[in-house]
Amino acid sequence: MKALITAGGHGTRLRPITYTQNKHLIPIANKLMLAYALEYASDAGINEAGVIINKGDKSIADAFGDGDSFGLKIEYIEQLEPLGLAHVVKIAEPFIGSDSFIFYLGDNILVGGIQKFIDDFTTNKSNCHLVLSKVPDPNRFGVADVQDGKIIGIEEKPDNPKSELAVTGIYVYDNHIFEAVNNIKPSARGELEISDAHQYLLNKGYSVTYSEITGWWKDTGKPSDLLEANRLVLDNIKDERKGEIDAHSTISGRVVIGKGSQVMNSNIRGPVIIGENVTIDGAYVGPYTAIGDGCTIISSEIEYSILMNDCSINNISRRIEASLLGSDVELLRSKSKPFTHRFIIGDQSRIEID
Ligand code: TTP
Repeated sequence: MKALITAGGHGTRLRPITYTQNKHLIPIANKLMLAYALEYASDAGINEAGVIINKGDKSIADAFGDGDSFGLKIEYIEQLEPLGLAHVVKIAEPFIGSDSFIFYLGDNILVGGIQKFIDDFTTNKSNCHLVLSKVPDPNRFGVADVQDGKIIGIEEKPDNPKSELAVTGIYVYDNHIFEAVNNIKPSARGELEISDAHQYLLNKGYSVTYSEITGWWKDTGKPSDLLEANRLVLDNIKDERKGEIDAHSTISGRVVIGKGSQVMNSNIRGPVIIGENVTIDGAYVGPYTAIGDGCTIISSEIEYSILMNDCSINNISRRIEASLLGSDVELLRSKSKPFTHRFIIGDQSRIEID
């Protein structure tokens, strides 16, 4: 069994963050998004992973190298253009060879790993095993039509979904998937759709089975999804305090404080993760906040947010919440008159003020 993991795509919904970085390198609870997929693959006993990257993107290989630290041998596969998920599978055929493989979309985060889905694929002797999850908004996904425990059809982003069972970004295939991706045609939006490949397998009478995710699963397409995934991962962290906390600070709940970090005159209410070499002074850090390395938070309040590395928040009067700050972002109170709002903001940024 090999793993094929995506780290390419457009990332349009996560602009402006994705103007300067690959979305799979956005941290969720201070761990790079793609690291979750690599860990799940390794935990399931997989040794070889193909990672799909956009043309010329070196950032993923810079972050994960040859995969040694995950116990994996990673091969990076360039996709010249993001032409769809079935296209991803198509170009991976030389890497996969005759093996079965788990296809895992690198922007999906779930609890409990992937071993169960591989076991279900093997036990059912499936040609294609899909992982489904009940969602409130199935029309955003590929949707499975399930009758008497069997998938009888798959529709991509249907206006009138036949069920609330979304096809998540986790699939296990044998070699027949290559017959499918080599026989389907691009959709109206010009992509080779993975749902069409699944429908092809169903039409040809191949065995398409499924497991339903019972715990949580998140497809992190939008900023609100990232915050939610961050919340869900933080819900399971364990207390670990390596930094210094002064006597004037209160820490409650599960809080991780990285080495070299200092908490002074502050109130931290977990679950919260604070990276290394962070300074927090006269601040409130509320539940479900992840603060990257090298950040500074002075005389300000923040909760339910993600701060990437080296951000600085200083003397902001309103509590900041549900916010996503890229690396090296500064939020400061004006020091001199006129006391106005002053912004230096990249394209497609979003600011809400009262
Ligand atoms: P999507 O979330 O469907 O697309 P996207 O990442 O391009 O984002 P957006 O819709 O905001 O523009 O992609 C799912 C996963 O598959 C994600 O890990 C990116 C990856 N991907 C590729 O690697 N190649 C592709 O051709 C496509 C469409 C996606």
